[in-house]
Amino acid sequence: MPSPSSASSASPVAPTRPVAEPGPAAPPTEADLLDFARRTAADTELVASLPLDPEDRTWLRLEGPGGSEAWLIGWPPGTGTGWHDHGGSHGALVTAAGELMEQSLAARLPTEGWKTLELADGVDRERPLPAGRGRAFGPHHVHEVLNTSTTRHAVSVHAYYPPLPLMRRYSRTGQVLRLEQVEQPEEWG
Ligand SMILES: [Fe+2]
Repeated sequence: MPSPSSASSASPVAPTRPVAEPGPAAPPTEADLLDFARRTAADTELVASLPLDPEDRTWLRLEGPGGSEAWLIGWPPGTGTGWHDHGGSHGALVTAAGELMEQSLAARLPTEGWKTLELADGVDRERPLPAGRGRAFGPHHVHEVLNTSTTRHAVSVHAYYPPLPLMRRYSRTGQVLRLEQVEQPEEWG
């Protein structure tokens, strides 16, 4: 009779490496969020289901991948977000209808300990985002998003991971950026 050790190494039914259980999914990357936003923006039925308001932005909460926070947002002509960051979350946005304009800073700002900051020349970036176009962004991204059209609504898909812990809001006068407000999730509902 073979010893237990030789049996286990020679037997055709020796236990193989256990099949990997589907463990907790890896957190969604910027690319994952951009892919989700692109696919969602192409869902014309969903996009058409967003109620639009002539004056104010409208929102529809979506199920983002891997526990991310996601939104469908409607932008009447002339509306925008103002300058803000995403509290350390990374994310993505894709325009589904109309056209948005993103203004962003190609500079990493210190996150704490300042109230006003003079931006260096040349840090401003402008990116038109017509329908079907979008971008992903990292955890330090500072931007504002605008619908500069005077006649047309825009609709876009946004996803953030982790779900937004807070948002810092800034005002901008020339090259001076001023921290105006730190918003907690309960404030934006
Ligand atoms: Fe944003």
